[in-house]
Amino acid sequence: MKAIVIDEFGGPATMMQRELPQPVPGDDEVLIRIAYAGVNPIDWKIREGLMAKVFPHQFPITLGWDASGTIVQVGRHVAPSRIGQFVFAYCRQYGTPVGRGTYAEFIALPAAMAVVAPANLHPAQAAAIPLPALTAWQGLHTAGQLVAGETVLITGGAGGVGSMAIQIALHAGARVLTVASLENHAFVLSLGAHAAIDYRGTALADGLRELAPDGVNLLLDCVGGTYLSEGLRYLRPGGRMVTIAGVPDVLLAGELGVTAQRIVATANPAQLQAIADLLAAGTLVPPPLEEMDLADVTAAHAKSKAGHVRGKIVLKVAEQVAVNLADGIAAGRKNS
Ligand SMILES: NC(=O)c1ccc[n+]([C@@H]2O[C@H](COP(=O)([O-])OP(=O)(O)OC[C@H]3O[C@@H](n4cnc5c(N)ncnc54)[C@H](OP(=O)(O)O)[C@@H]3O)[C@@H](O)[C@H]2O)c1
Repeated sequence: MKAIVIDEFGGPATMMQRELPQPVPGDDEVLIRIAYAGVNPIDWKIREGLMAKVFPHQFPITLGWDASGTIVQVGRHVAPSRIGQFVFAYCRQYGTPVGRGTYAEFIALPAAMAVVAPANLHPAQAAAIPLPALTAWQGLHTAGQLVAGETVLITGGAGGVGSMAIQIALHAGARVLTVASLENHAFVLSLGAHAAIDYRGTALADGLRELAPDGVNLLLDCVGGTYLSEGLRYLRPGGRMVTIAGVPDVLLAGELGVTAQRIVATANPAQLQAIADLLAAGTLVPPPLEEMDLADVTAAHAKSKAGHVRGKIVLKVAEQVAVNLADGIAAGRKNS
């Protein structure tokens, strides 16, 4: 099968398209023929070796952690009725070395991790959801313990995680303030955010003073950098900060009487099912997409690394599967 692999950490030139053996599903696994792969910042961070100490890995590494596609084969312990289901998944298996990825024609993974994709989503939209939406869910609910009526501030609101987090927080009954560049204010407000704040100059401090004079209950930080310390000052006493993008200043948090934690999102089929249900109901809407071909992976990584993606970038892996499934949503798609 065709795959984008690296044999060593480094720049874009380390990425090569290569033929690899098609994976064989284990007893409890399914084999997915991938239609689209979602591009996440973690992909170029893995490629550059920035996460080498965080995640054990095994070369050659096939990049990519998000996918949509069709189950084409099942292991001995998996119901054959799953063959033909169109699924989406955050494909990183906790505790196993980084190596198997979704920038490839096929991936084998535990059957439970492959959740039936909502029928109202195009396959490209489905590939854009799992990792960012699970991160938003775990940041707001699992770690953030968001309660209806609270005020939450989301930094990076226009990005893959932020655009899902705005919607998930609204669904939870929160008042949602978000930080984004002026160019993205119309977009984040269209998602339902109650207010958008620019981050340039003194706009953020001024905006927060006006919108949340006593501070916010929860900060979900999707940017890192100065927010890892400065963001703690946006909280009211007893407030919580959850960051997905760095190590927060816990000493300062203690001094200010707030809490701060970093999370690393993990695959969680029950949570992904809950997200799928909200997408199917139209409560959550998928983000705007920039679709590229798998062969354009270098450009996709450059754009992601530049740090101003609105919504998501996805890579089209299989023309045939994508076209068939988009068409209505087509031949062979099975949702139960
Ligand atoms: N810990 C985890 O489990 C986990 C999971 C997923 C992602 N992450 C990390 O979280 C970060 C965000 O991921 P993502 O997928 O959402 O990235 P993304 O789609 O590339 O979005 C990044 C967003 O950040 C915004 N931004 C840039 N500088 C900003 C600033 N100073 N203040 C506010 N917003 C700013 C950009 O919007 P503007 O154009 O409006 O500036 C852009 O929309 C990445 O570092 C990623 O590696 C971690």
